[in-house]
Amino acid sequence: MRNDCLKDKAAIVTGSRRGIGKAIALAFAGAGADLMICDVDVEDGRLAETAQQIKLAGSQCHALQTDVSRRSDVENLVQAAENAFGRIDILVNCAGIWIPGQTLIECGEENWDKVINTNLKGCYLCCQAAGKVMAANKMGSIVNISSQVGLTPGAGAGAYPVSKAGIIMLTRQLAQELAGFNVRVNALAPGIVKTDFNAAFWKDPAVEKQTAGMVPLNRLAEPEDIAEAALFLASDSSSYITGEVLAINGGWKPQSAVSSR
Ligand SMILES: NC(=O)c1ccc[n+]([C@@H]2O[C@H](COP(=O)([O-])OP(=O)(O)OC[C@H]3O[C@@H](n4cnc5c(N)ncnc54)[C@H](O)[C@@H]3O)[C@@H](O)[C@H]2O)c1
Repeated sequence: MRNDCLKDKAAIVTGSRRGIGKAIALAFAGAGADLMICDVDVEDGRLAETAQQIKLAGSQCHALQTDVSRRSDVENLVQAAENAFGRIDILVNCAGIWIPGQTLIECGEENWDKVINTNLKGCYLCCQAAGKVMAANKMGSIVNISSQVGLTPGAGAGAYPVSKAGIIMLTRQLAQELAGFNVRVNALAPGIVKTDFNAAFWKDPAVEKQTAGMVPLNRLAEPEDIAEAALFLASDSSSYITGEVLAINGGWKPQSAVSSR
């Protein structure tokens, strides 16, 4: 891929105040894109810091508080991107939560609603709003962040694996519906990535060593590993790829980590 592979492109990245979303936004800026970044949490100043870093990289950047599970917030976000850039070429749906420590059979309705509304409904709302703009312009690339546990069951994550599996079918369905409008829709399925999201798996070096030991490549992913793949799917280098799920897991494919007793 060329260093300026996203030159003259405008991108929305949700959940971009930290972690994978931030790494993706910075990688896109490094490749020449202008950015609309957003997050539900703006109080800690990290979204504004990300915006500052993007501007220092030479790209335009606007930052907006957005709860992706609320239709009105998502419509504002998409309208703001259109107003700022006159176009939306790329959407990355990265905003997500998980509430660990619960099996699905014990998962309460509150956990279910929160996780499904943020991860799956949020992805649906953003795809629908930005996808319509892209379809009208006959051009676009959507990258949805699923998870390895959207492909294979994981332990104690309540509704999370279901939300991530839903994102995969949403991706495949929209890829079919939008292909005729020259809009591509793909998903990434990361394994275990070193972000605040799952600090319990790696903040302690001994625990990280143990976790990495489950991964054939013997290390956890860095956010930049996911950003590189997002850059590929967002760029014209993947112009003949749609409806696909790219796993980025170092070879880690738990068959079924859920204990039967
Ligand atoms: N870290 C991992 O191991 C891993 C693995 C597979 C998939 N993922 C997925 O990657 C994505 C990013 O994860 P991360 O590790 O960077 O986590 P993170 O917690 O560091 O970042 C997620 C961001 O999304 C934001 N967010 C949460 N709810 C939101 C909402 N309703 N509206 C807008 N923003 C919201 C959070 O405030 C946060 O800044 C998530 O979708 C996650 O499910 C992460």
